[in-house]
Amino acid sequence: MNTLTVNLHLMMVSFYRPNSERFKIIMEAGAFPSDQYAVETQVRWHGYDPAEAIVEVAPRPGEALLHTEDILAAIEQHGAQTALVLFAGLNYYTGQVYDMPAITAAGHRVGAYVGFDLAHAAGNVPLHLHDWGVDFAVWCTYKYINSGPGAPSGAFVHAKHGNNNQIPRFAGWWGHNEERRFLMEKGFDPIPGAAGWQLSNAPILAYAPMRASHDLFLEAGMPALRAKSENLTAYLEFLIDSLNTDKRRFDIITPRDPAQRGAQLSFLTGPAGKQLFDYLTQNGVICDWREHNLPGEKGEKAGVIRIAPTPMYNSFEDVWRFADLLAKANV
Ligand SMILES: Cc1ncc(COP(=O)(O)O)c(C=O)c1O
Repeated sequence: MNTLTVNLHLMMVSFYRPNSERFKIIMEAGAFPSDQYAVETQVRWHGYDPAEAIVEVAPRPGEALLHTEDILAAIEQHGAQTALVLFAGLNYYTGQVYDMPAITAAGHRVGAYVGFDLAHAAGNVPLHLHDWGVDFAVWCTYKYINSGPGAPSGAFVHAKHGNNNQIPRFAGWWGHNEERRFLMEKGFDPIPGAAGWQLSNAPILAYAPMRASHDLFLEAGMPALRAKSENLTAYLEFLIDSLNTDKRRFDIITPRDPAQRGAQLSFLTGPAGKQLFDYLTQNGVICDWREHNLPGEKGEKAGVIRIAPTPMYNSFEDVWRFADLLAKANV
């Protein structure tokens, strides 16, 4: 339903209900900008100051990745004042998969709700949201789920909340009891589960590629896709590492542990990164370039190239061809 940022706002209406004692949101530093804007404006809308209410967990100096123990320590430290813990499942920039079960358990220990933005995790890494006890999650379907920009987003609400029709929410007719929807009567009666958070009737044309993609996922199965994904990414890692010489380095910042990453490697490029990205694009590689510096990134104006060998449609040969282009790059 809707798009990701809309769903994030809808979920925060239900799961970020601050009061003078509990008003903080703990999140990762450098979260995707739309999430930052959503959080900042929710905090302001409730009358709190983002500088006080938003706690960002940052990498240690000189590092790119977050330590789980630092996330858990922040939750512990701000626990009594924390209303919501909100993290990505997989950080879009570094490719790091956060320890969702540990973060969820820590958030619940201090009495906070815990939600995840799974934009880069859905269709990419194994997820067991119900078993982990996650309160809510949102994701878009135009990355690994192949639906195209602006296609409908997803939302998960844990059954312990989904069946509670008293939970505050912003409602619309598409979330109302399906049997009675067209009776046009007063009194909102939510459909149990996340479906009860739907607002409007469905964009059927935009659902078509999503449906086709879901059919392919069901046919291939996540375990097979994940197995190929781990191998493809490991092969890419091996090839990139083998290009490093005394003169030239492609420093991979994505975790080396396959359990802590999906189908993505991000590597630092140094000053000529944008030219390298343009050369790759001109040679038919669709990857991504970010100027943005993490604290401690090397080199003047260092940037990051993100490359995602997607198991649904990328082959080992594609990965080899990419590394071959990288080896031949003149920049
Ligand atoms: C992590 C994350 N959050 C939010 C968004 C924004 O999604 P939407 O345009 O559907 O609101 C994106 C889009 O790329 C994203 O990657």
